[in-house]
Amino acid sequence: MKTPVIICVDDERTLLNSLQTELKSALWGEYLIETAESGEDALELVEELLEEGADLPLVISDQLMPGMKGDELLRKIHLIAPKTMKILLTGQANLDAVGNIINHANLYRYITKPWEPTNLLMTVKKAIQSYFQEQAQVKFYADLEIKVAERTQQLQDKNEFLSMAVHDLKNPLSAIQGFSEMIKCHFDEIPKEMVIDFAEQIFTSSRHLFDVIKNILDINAIEAGKMNPSLDVLDIRQTLQWLIKHYNERAKAKNITLQFQYPEEAYFVRVDETLLRQVLDNLLSNAIKYSPSGKPIYIRFNQDDQFRGCEIQDEGPGLNDEDQKRLFNQFTRLTPQPTGNEHSSGLGLFMVKKWVEAMHGEVQCESILGQGSTFRVKFPAA
Ligand SMILES: Nc1ncnc2c1ncn2[C@@H]1O[C@H](COP(=O)(O)OP(=O)(O)OP(=O)(O)O)[C@@H](O)[C@H]1O
Ligand SMILES: [Mg+2]
Repeated sequence: MKTPVIICVDDERTLLNSLQTELKSALWGEYLIETAESGEDALELVEELLEEGADLPLVISDQLMPGMKGDELLRKIHLIAPKTMKILLTGQANLDAVGNIINHANLYRYITKPWEPTNLLMTVKKAIQSYFQEQAQVKFYADLEIKVAERTQQLQDKNEFLSMAVHDLKNPLSAIQGFSEMIKCHFDEIPKEMVIDFAEQIFTSSRHLFDVIKNILDINAIEAGKMNPSLDVLDIRQTLQWLIKHYNERAKAKNITLQFQYPEEAYFVRVDETLLRQVLDNLLSNAIKYSPSGKPIYIRFNQDDQFRGCEIQDEGPGLNDEDQKRLFNQFTRLTPQPTGNEHSSGLGLFMVKKWVEAMHGEVQCESILGQGSTFRVKFPAA
């Protein structure tokens, strides 16, 4: 931080020198003591210092000077540096000038010449103290305002989250109710295949319900800072292999092939097993969810000195610049839509980022609109 500057203004060089010496001896090292021999020079100096971003706690000015008088100078300084404390030195009590500055420049004190050094120093120190107290108060309120704004935003997000969650719960629930009621009331009339189809719909809806509830619990844990990842050494190949097996059927149903070659060398990383699975699950399920039928998905591994990870590349719709900026935010259902009527709550990638960061890893997306997206994730190598 720059050293704060105190400015002394007087047209009599000897008085100015003695003022500067007195202040320097008392405030040595903590403040720079600058001088000016006229109101005009002082104003210029103040403007320069403010432009440089200097802290200007105090200006002490003589009243009677040729050209710009002390009261005029302090009024002008007040306009550009209202927080700066001002002390006026007067040859004799010049009440008009003093009243003028009290009213228009928030004068801190006036001191009659010749001044008594201890008295002057005490006043100067008090003025500086007031200045910094006021600064601290301003900062305190500004910080408070930021905190209130952040908290308000959090509450708004929470409200939005709840109403989205309720909305997301309502749809699958009413589907379950509708289909089960059809089976209950018309069991004898409807063909067996239709019953199986209804049961299938009930199953899918209950899976949606399960996903939404799991998301709500995961988000709550993230927001409450209760993730507590327990980091172990794991071979990332095995987690991916398990997931690919798990998603193979779903991919096949959309005529999507998962191109994955199990590497020979192990990819040991330091991660939390459950979180790692959730991260890769989200990325892989997104690739399948947003890819059109018939497009392949590539799963590759990569590593450098410190990190190991993988990338999941799809040839889906890709993301425009605006979508890419919002990708990892909460509740971001972006331009690409699920291609197989899958459920979308816009929370997956928000959680992915939080989980990856909790494991000291990184996640990023590279995407070209119309050509596809590649999500890369990496974790500290073990
Ligand atoms: N591989 C992808 N290709 C194209 N768009 C994608 C891809 N992955 C995500 N998106 C876009 O980003 C948005 C946010 O994805 P995110 O995973 O956070 O939520 P979601 O898939 O909509 O819901 P869920 O909470 O079930 O994961 C999606 O709605 C989609 O528009
Ligand atoms: Mg998702």
